[in-house]
Amino acid sequence: MAKVYSPLNLKPMKKILVATEKPFAAVAAEGIKKVFAEAGYEVVMLEKYTETADFLKAVADVDGLIIRSDNVSAEVVNAAQNLKIVVRAGAGYDNIDLDACTQKGVVAMNTPGQNSNAVAELAIGLMLYNIRKRFDGSSGTELRDKKIGIHAYGNVGRYVAAIAKGFGMNVYAHDPFVKKEDIEKDGVTPVFSVSELYKTCQYISLHIPANDKTKKSINYELLKSMPKGGTLVNTARKEVIDEEGLLKVMQERTDFCYLSDLAPDCKDEMLEKYAGRVVFTAKKMGAQTSEANINAGLAAARQIVKFFEKGDKTFQVN
Ligand code: 3PG
Repeated sequence: MAKVYSPLNLKPMKKILVATEKPFAAVAAEGIKKVFAEAGYEVVMLEKYTETADFLKAVADVDGLIIRSDNVSAEVVNAAQNLKIVVRAGAGYDNIDLDACTQKGVVAMNTPGQNSNAVAELAIGLMLYNIRKRFDGSSGTELRDKKIGIHAYGNVGRYVAAIAKGFGMNVYAHDPFVKKEDIEKDGVTPVFSVSELYKTCQYISLHIPANDKTKKSINYELLKSMPKGGTLVNTARKEVIDEEGLLKVMQERTDFCYLSDLAPDCKDEMLEKYAGRVVFTAKKMGAQTSEANINAGLAAARQIVKFFEKGDKTFQVN
């Protein structure tokens, strides 16, 4: 296809694809278009697509790509002949085939921290919704004075800790990559092992990424060890849960609750057998706020412009 030249500087115009099966809020999409218009780039929006074929076609001639949880497989990377950069507007990049990107010389980035508050607010919201009996008018319980364990003290974990403290909860955290002092200075108690965290806290809020080490790591033993009223809140990834173990605990413990933004494979079985102890969102929506979309979407657009104009590779993950 013939290259289009920018009227601003007569350099070949960069073409950027924003491929979002779950679209950004309109205000964020407009902001992204504005960032690229100011840079003299062409932008193409592919929203709510249902077929991978549409993604493969749209990516064929673009220089840059913005995605959310969209799957950037090796097939996508290989179909994108001009691609130099893909930015995941969000934190987790387990949906990008990093090896395929590296092999093709494509830089992959994320936008850490930009949507974290939205996810944290949802985690607390799920807890409130559950303990106040889905707002059905019956008597519930309170968060005050209860123990919450933050499993991974990154951007989202820190926001959850701050909000939980506001609710008067006792906050604990486990994260082998964060210094004890950095956890303590937030008024949070560091816990040195995962098993200790689960044994100690009635509530666990999960914020670990999905990778070879963490997949299925939240297992029967951990969940079984949680105190009375044990409640696992998952706004991270479904793959980190050992679903067999979770089902076993749900069966053995009538007090145990599972609240998740990521529908498990065993969703139908759980809803059928344990209604009242499970909450699932209609669709992954932790980061689905205008603010988070604006923060992450605009950050992604600006990172792409900086990469092309200045060679800036901050936030590269491959
Ligand atoms: C993330 O990794 O940033 C979150 O899981 C949000 O994902 P989303 O952009 O698909 O909502």
